[in-house]
Amino acid sequence: VSSGEKATSLRYNLMELAAEKNDVISLGRGDPDLDTPAEIIEGTWRRMKTTPSSIPVRGLLELRRSVANHYQITKGLDFDPEQEIIITNGGQEGLFLTMLALVDPGDSVATPDPRYSSYDQAIGAAGGSIVEIPTGKDLRFELDADDLRQGIQDAKILVLVNPSNPTGALVRADGVRRIAEAARDLDVVVVSDEIYEEVVYDNERLLSTVACEGMRERTVTLSGFSKAYAMTGFRVGYLIGDPAFIDAVERLKAATSGPCPLLSQNAALTALE
Ligand SMILES: Cc1ncc(COP(=O)(O)O)c(C=O)c1O
Repeated sequence: VSSGEKATSLRYNLMELAAEKNDVISLGRGDPDLDTPAEIIEGTWRRMKTTPSSIPVRGLLELRRSVANHYQITKGLDFDPEQEIIITNGGQEGLFLTMLALVDPGDSVATPDPRYSSYDQAIGAAGGSIVEIPTGKDLRFELDADDLRQGIQDAKILVLVNPSNPTGALVRADGVRRIAEAARDLDVVVVSDEIYEEVVYDNERLLSTVACEGMRERTVTLSGFSKAYAMTGFRVGYLIGDPAFIDAVERLKAATSGPCPLLSQNAALTALE
């Protein structure tokens, strides 16, 4: 069973079995087992003493500015905080709303296999189908260029989780550039889930897909605070994409959860500070 509802119920059954055993490693959600740093908790309380006059669905402008500033400082990338960024309730909501916004019934979405299986539910809910691109031990769980091209040939979207959950593999800069080139050639949108960006070792650094030539208009970047700042319980993530995409996500978000809670946005602001 590789995908869909059956895979989900199998996964839940396995999780119940695993809960009864010691030393079982979960390859599902990647929740850090560290406490949220005390400075973030303290800074959050300080910020909560004043309430902003408005809490827009796409998130506090101050937080969106702070996310934009972070990309400018760390990667030299400029994003418009008013139009190109939306704060989500964790990466989880971000990925679900992204699929609802981008996928039409009958669309194909390519994803490396194995993958983070929440994408299956999101793609399924939007009426899309999945094309699996194999990765494996022999490839060090990296994507082979030919397999990739073949996989995305008829796809509208490629979901790239980099670094990957569950494999932990990083697609290095040259690999990201190859993926970008293929996406441009074959007119594919890349949803680049970079939520594990800070969990990269051996002096490597992630090259964001959006930083590759010609990718700005065809990339959605998904990230958040759960992993990098051990803030899973706060439920804060964000999406960066073109203004029309962000508008579409905002409409869906307004109709489902509304803005991310103020407490959590204050925690995210403190983390970036
Ligand atoms: C690849 C990937 N994307 C998104 C998420 C969702 O993260 P969050 O905890 O911010 O909802 C996870 C969570 O484990 C994940 O592994």
